[in-house]
Amino acid sequence: MKLVTIIGARPQIIKAAALSRAIKSHYADSIQEVIVHTGQHYDDNMSQVFFDELGIPRPDYNLHVGSASHGVQTARMMEGIEEILLKERPDFIVLYGDTNSTLAGATAAAKIHIPIAHVEAGLRSFNKSMPEEINRIVCDHCSTLLFSPTQAGIDNLQREGFNLNNEPPYTIDNPKVFHCGDVMYDNSLHFAEIAETKTDIINRLNLNDKPFVLATVHRDTNTDQPERLNAIFSALLKLSKKQPIVLPLHPRTNKMLKTNLDTTLKEQLFSSSDIRIIPPVSFLEMIALEKQAHLVVTDSGGVQKESYFFQKPCIILRPETEWVEIVETGNAILADADEQRIMEAWNQFESQPDAGFPEIFGDGKAAEFILQQLIQAKK
Ligand code: UD1
Ligand code: UDP
Repeated sequence: MKLVTIIGARPQIIKAAALSRAIKSHYADSIQEVIVHTGQHYDDNMSQVFFDELGIPRPDYNLHVGSASHGVQTARMMEGIEEILLKERPDFIVLYGDTNSTLAGATAAAKIHIPIAHVEAGLRSFNKSMPEEINRIVCDHCSTLLFSPTQAGIDNLQREGFNLNNEPPYTIDNPKVFHCGDVMYDNSLHFAEIAETKTDIINRLNLNDKPFVLATVHRDTNTDQPERLNAIFSALLKLSKKQPIVLPLHPRTNKMLKTNLDTTLKEQLFSSSDIRIIPPVSFLEMIALEKQAHLVVTDSGGVQKESYFFQKPCIILRPETEWVEIVETGNAILADADEQRIMEAWNQFESQPDAGFPEIFGDGKAAEFILQQLIQAKK
């Protein structure tokens, strides 16, 4: 069986590592994976570092599309992906998550009748002002095999008209929905111990035995709207007086801080010794930080989940989340870009014991399950 895997943005490269690893361990003789990197993320610390560290095979193709507006970026990717699909003629194209690379892969493949397997299907924020919400909906509705990590994802797809009882042969018009667990959980389990032995970030940042908050910010609504960016950084400055903060900074945020942050806040932020702003870190370093952190503050989907995997409370800098289960269990609080709600969430977590972390993201073998279903569907 031949798969074409599309990756492009940081979280997709990390997610793809789980499937590539499972192919190498169990299906090296029966599955050929052709990897296409769209080039959506291109800085070494947003892309190459993950190939070096996670053992992902070198991409067979790199489209080098780089950064551009949504339309331009997606169109460039579609053009390149279509050409590759026509040449490679895979049994399935494998798409991850909800980025523009996902959207480009979905629209290019569906029009030339290459079946799509969507990993991380069914997630919804019910907020179509997010580019990711558009990307997910389009991709799910063009897919033949939909792999949902959570029950909420299955419920969303059912509400949108997907029949959970479809029988093979599966097609774009007779798709199959699977509840399979989360490939990011597979990765977190696999790399948790390796992260401790292979990274020295905790020592390097002098964090041994010191409680700290781990923060990330990159959502376009938070970086591109000055009011929201100012509220978030004002809250982080306040929070850092209670506990030091480590903030690996996404390049989008790095750029937007310069233009969108008030001068006074900027001065306070860059002179603060309580907020450590560092360049994006590797996945192993990120896991090491997550394991050691006292609490996580983030607008990232992946980091929200990892904070749950490593049993840390999480303050979510968004009005809603696709990962509703982690809020429902009481381990994450939606605080939006609202200084008061962020501080209230901190106080709430400080005054209550953690709520317990039931296993809602599978058994750490989602990638193997996905490959089994792909092989089955091809027969
Ligand atoms: C993208 C995804 C988002 C995902 C995030 C993960 C879309 C619409 N958004 O957002 O869902 O959560 O990736 O990180 O696909 N930049 C660099 N170097 C890089 C990459 C980006 O400097 O290697 C800067 C550029 O200024 C670029 C900006 O970051 O314009 C945004 O990059 P882009 O890929 O368009 O969106 P993200 O915000 O990264
Ligand atoms: N991540 C990383 N280094 C960083 C920040 C995040 O390796 O400096 C990892 C993080 O552990 C998670 C993934 O990147 O696995 C999340 O990606 P991101 O926050 O960029 O996007 P999202 O998940 O919101 O789409």
